Amino acid sequence: MCGIVGYIGNEEKKEILLDGLQELEYRGYDSAGIAIIENEKLNYFKAIGKLQNLRDKTKDYQSSGFGVSIGHTRWATHGKPTELNAHPHLGKFSFVVHNGIIENYQELKTQLQEEGVHFLSQTDTETIVHLFEYYYSQNSDSFNSFSKTIDRLHGAYATLLISESSPDTIFFAKNGSPMLIGFDGDDIYFASSDTPIIGRATEVYYLEDGEYGYAKNGEVKLFDKNGEKSFSTKPLATDKAMAQKDGYRFFMEKEIYEQSLVMSDTMIGRVLEDRIDFEELDSELFEGVTNIKICACGTSYHSALTGSYLLERVAKIPCQVEIASEFRYKEPLLRDDTLFITISQSGETADTLEALKMAKREGLKSLSICNVDNSSIVRESDRAILTRAGIEKGVASTKAFATQTMVLWMLTLYIAKLQKTISQDRLDIELDAMRHTPKALLVTDKLHSKLTRLSKRYLHGHGFFFIGRDLFFPLALEGALKLKEISYLHAEGYPSGEMKHGPIALADSELFTIALMPKSLHYEKIKSNVEELSARDATILAISPEPFELADDFVQTIYDTHPMLEFFEMMVVTQLLALEVSVRLGNDVDMPRNLAKSVTVE
Ligand code: F6R
Repeated sequence: MCGIVGYIGNEEKKEILLDGLQELEYRGYDSAGIAIIENEKLNYFKAIGKLQNLRDKTKDYQSSGFGVSIGHTRWATHGKPTELNAHPHLGKFSFVVHNGIIENYQELKTQLQEEGVHFLSQTDTETIVHLFEYYYSQNSDSFNSFSKTIDRLHGAYATLLISESSPDTIFFAKNGSPMLIGFDGDDIYFASSDTPIIGRATEVYYLEDGEYGYAKNGEVKLFDKNGEKSFSTKPLATDKAMAQKDGYRFFMEKEIYEQSLVMSDTMIGRVLEDRIDFEELDSELFEGVTNIKICACGTSYHSALTGSYLLERVAKIPCQVEIASEFRYKEPLLRDDTLFITISQSGETADTLEALKMAKREGLKSLSICNVDNSSIVRESDRAILTRAGIEKGVASTKAFATQTMVLWMLTLYIAKLQKTISQDRLDIELDAMRHTPKALLVTDKLHSKLTRLSKRYLHGHGFFFIGRDLFFPLALEGALKLKEISYLHAEGYPSGEMKHGPIALADSELFTIALMPKSLHYEKIKSNVEELSARDATILAISPEPFELADDFVQTIYDTHPMLEFFEMMVVTQLLALEVSVRLGNDVDMPRNLAKSVTVE
């Protein structure tokens, strides 16, 4: 996730770009940059870290009078957060900003290098500007060169390009990453979302995938694969707070809906035709490793538990999971054939960070799975895999959990292939299921309104038990955590086979059981456990692809062949249930009482 802003007109461009980027800083803030052409001359500034650093760097620069300008705030995917890797990326006479991932950049880069092009950064983005200039050197036609460039790109992109070859023009293209165009008289704006242009533009056009074109002389020319096309604008919203949430009531709700999209970002460039590839990893990290230990807190601990089932079952590598605050003081015995993995959304959780430092002191190799590049945990680890969920604002974690779990699933397949514990046939089945995950995460109106209706029946009672088996036990823990965090109702996650060893004593009609009943994993066993609860009059909300006649309430899921697809689909159901119960109780969904987004104290 990165943020993009562009502007053509007579206003002070630096201010428009910096103010716009400020609104997009939530999309990433490891570096930022702007490029401006005025009087046919290019100027650019970049700074690593928060936008304030770029503001400080540009404080003496003025850019009023006609010109074209582009800006970017970055969330690193390819290459570290350095000034060279910050956008805009420059060629000889042009600049580009880009949000998304160019999947075939390596192939394009090699071709350009063979033509003698010199690359400055490690990013995929830089290929766009060099490709443009390569075509321009052949045909001296800026728009033709831009269209040819776009034609060559595979993957997700929203991109803006300016060039001294057409100093009054901004070229744009969108595919898979968001971008819109704002209008106010002859002034034209571009942005990744509404907020940077609210209060400046009055009309807006939301670009569709596959559209590209250019803006010049107060006009936009729009094209797609069928040639030039017409478009109509609509009035731009005026409420900024609402726009930040993209029209959703809460950040948590927006983040639940975003999961399908960010999951694709997590997979891009990693889920290949016949294997998983992590450019962050190599076989050296796994040399001599016969054991994995994962340490995390809260929701991240639940994804770790899910990962341990996958790693042992599929990759056949022993894996233990520890709650970081327990691990620190138990005087753990650590062996140097153990790979120590930490998982953290923020990368700043004190207990997880300290656990990592302990493991490093004992000489263990370390890997972190994290959502924030350059965070303390990432910096402390030997290697890091970024989850690419984008900034998570809701205190109750949703998309971070989904992407952590996906990374663990991918890591499982990566290790299984490396250690030859998986057949190609099984690997193909897993990869195929993986590619279906974004679909399994889609929230339909039907599902959401069903949970809104159901939620009114779950506002009281003396407690909730979320139950599941196997992979669905950690999901039960996570479902219960989500509900208690934002509803303030007591909820527990439990392995369903364990209920009869004590907790079933609580069963009566005021005990709400949320039963995760996947079809593809131990269905008959879970069914018997739920029947035992139903026989004791517990109120059952069953979530399953298979109708269950003893259920008091039933949410039917769609996927029934692969456990992980069932997992992700059921995860969304539990998240929506927690959300709607919280809304009905009138709680602060995004900032529940007593909690903080980043827990930097032990
Ligand atoms: C729950 C939640 C917390 C965090 C925990 C660890 O919704 O967000 O339980 O998961 O505080 O935080 P990170 O993942 O940042 O280390």
